[in-house]
Amino acid sequence: MKTLKFSSNDSMPALGLGTWKSPKGEVYRAVKTAIKLGYRHLDCAPVYGNQHEVGTAIKECIEEGLVTREELWITSKLWNDAHAEADVIPALQETLKSLQLNYLDLFLIHWPVALKKGIGLPQRGDDFIALSTLPLSTTWKGMERAKDQHLARHIGVSNFGIESLKKILAEANHPPEMNQVECHPYLPQNELHHFCREHAIHLTAYAPLGSGDRSAAMKAEDEPDLLGNPLLNNMARAHDLSVAQVILGWDLQRGMAVIPKSTNPQRMAENLAATKVSLSEADMNHVASLAKNYRYVNGRFWLLEGVPYTYEGLWE
Ligand code: A2P
Repeated sequence: MKTLKFSSNDSMPALGLGTWKSPKGEVYRAVKTAIKLGYRHLDCAPVYGNQHEVGTAIKECIEEGLVTREELWITSKLWNDAHAEADVIPALQETLKSLQLNYLDLFLIHWPVALKKGIGLPQRGDDFIALSTLPLSTTWKGMERAKDQHLARHIGVSNFGIESLKKILAEANHPPEMNQVECHPYLPQNELHHFCREHAIHLTAYAPLGSGDRSAAMKAEDEPDLLGNPLLNNMARAHDLSVAQVILGWDLQRGMAVIPKSTNPQRMAENLAATKVSLSEADMNHVASLAKNYRYVNGRFWLLEGVPYTYEGLWE
């Protein structure tokens, strides 16, 4: 398994199982199957609504001797309603309780967006808190405490652009070690990738396959079909790979982690096998030529009337 190295010498398996959109009643079986197949990295979040089931599957795999806790890499995230410094550790403790774990390997601020306490998915502008009132650097202090208290071995962020990262880097005692963002051939994140490399921040690619199972409300009518892209399909056929394997192999070869979601055993196995894919420089460049700055998860769901956020500000 390819790994990403941290300054502490810890290694994160570069390919993990995404659990966003994995339904309750299915995710338990998916996690157990994934661990049996050899997955050692699971990506979770409280807002996915399925952490307890994920945790039960992990616990049973450990009890059955299939894997040890130390062999697993478990990532979870801080929801937007717990950005106040004093709310970070209680929120993390809730997540640990759901996952039935004592610590996380990686804990991320889920979005550079703050919501009032108790708000899951916002319904109106009044549910939000402006970042000028509750800055990301304040939330980061809570994240640092989580690391100091050994509740999270590594801390980082998700959905952060360069300007948001700079705000944290300017004041951090423990700089962020990870930025988890949407990344695939239509959104290669070149500039962000370069900035993160310069600051020893790893990238994890979410929605690597275009997240076709998002709700209709999250989809644009004219969105491009990633898995159906002709160039990727021709390349896959030429190398006897699936299109998913070409995309995942491309992400991994760029030095990123990648977290494809599946609850289907065959596709989980197929995705895991992408860790063995090796693309030529010409193929890497062909895939890179597909870039079109297209976001499947564009964050427009945050932009309700009267919110103290803008589209440009969200991704800057
Ligand atoms: P399923 O869970 O039925 O396998 P993303 O990781 O970009 O969010 O994409 C997840 C979507 O891609 C899900 O609909 C998932 O379906 C599907 N998927 C996962 N792996 C593959 C694969 N190897 N080939 C095609 N579709 C896949």
